[in-house]
Amino acid sequence: MKVTVLSTSDAVASALAERVASTLRAGPHAVLGLASGRTPVDGYAEMQRLHASGQMDWSRASTFNLDEFAGIHGRHPGSFRTFMEDHLFGGVNLRPERIHFLDGAVTDLDEECERYEGAIAAAGGIDLQILGIGSNGHIGFNEPGDDLPVRTHRVTLMESTRRDNAALFGHELSKVPREALSMGIGTILHARRIVLVATGGKKAECIRQSVNGRITTRVPASLLQVHPEVELLLDEEAASLIRRT
Ligand code: F6R
Repeated sequence: MKVTVLSTSDAVASALAERVASTLRAGPHAVLGLASGRTPVDGYAEMQRLHASGQMDWSRASTFNLDEFAGIHGRHPGSFRTFMEDHLFGGVNLRPERIHFLDGAVTDLDEECERYEGAIAAAGGIDLQILGIGSNGHIGFNEPGDDLPVRTHRVTLMESTRRDNAALFGHELSKVPREALSMGIGTILHARRIVLVATGGKKAECIRQSVNGRITTRVPASLLQVHPEVELLLDEEAASLIRRT
């Protein structure tokens, strides 16, 4: 794993935007895997700024988001789709038909997961996958466990993850869906390149385990160690427990 430590979270945001901007410059048809969550938000704001100043053209790009809550519509104010509209899609020139999202409102969720895998394959696979990390080491909604599903799947959210997402639902835990859909670890590892962002001391321990620890499904991000093209963009606090040799 390539570990890039930057002095501030703002520098992490700029570096993330730069990684995506250079990907789009090198291949305007790039297929991007996107994450929601708080960490990439400033990076997305920087991408909007680069677009507004004519330095980032999204017109030929395609995107696939990692995950979505089950049981709510994409237009629900708490959905990840709404989150992405607010923080990225609304400020760049992505074509609506090239924005791909899991639909948590369909009746057959398993079929929806299959559809998503097919859509990723039809787009030629993901060129650059952006990831955040949960403080329990989850990536996407792949929660720690004895085993992990390989492909896009339904997942029962852990209580801690529901609490972490309560802000999207007016801070009312009871309103946070209990289930979600998520790309699987195999789906993520198939991306040609992965950039994981983490900031703040709350992520220091899961980053240490993911970088210096053994590979284990108990720390899903540790599986990224097997991928040949992973970069971690960290601020000093998130990197503070890593053993650097
Ligand atoms: C979001 C996602 C999650 C988050 C993770 C970190 O699409 O898949 O794995 O990346 O929970 O969230 P933040 O950035 O809010 O700490």
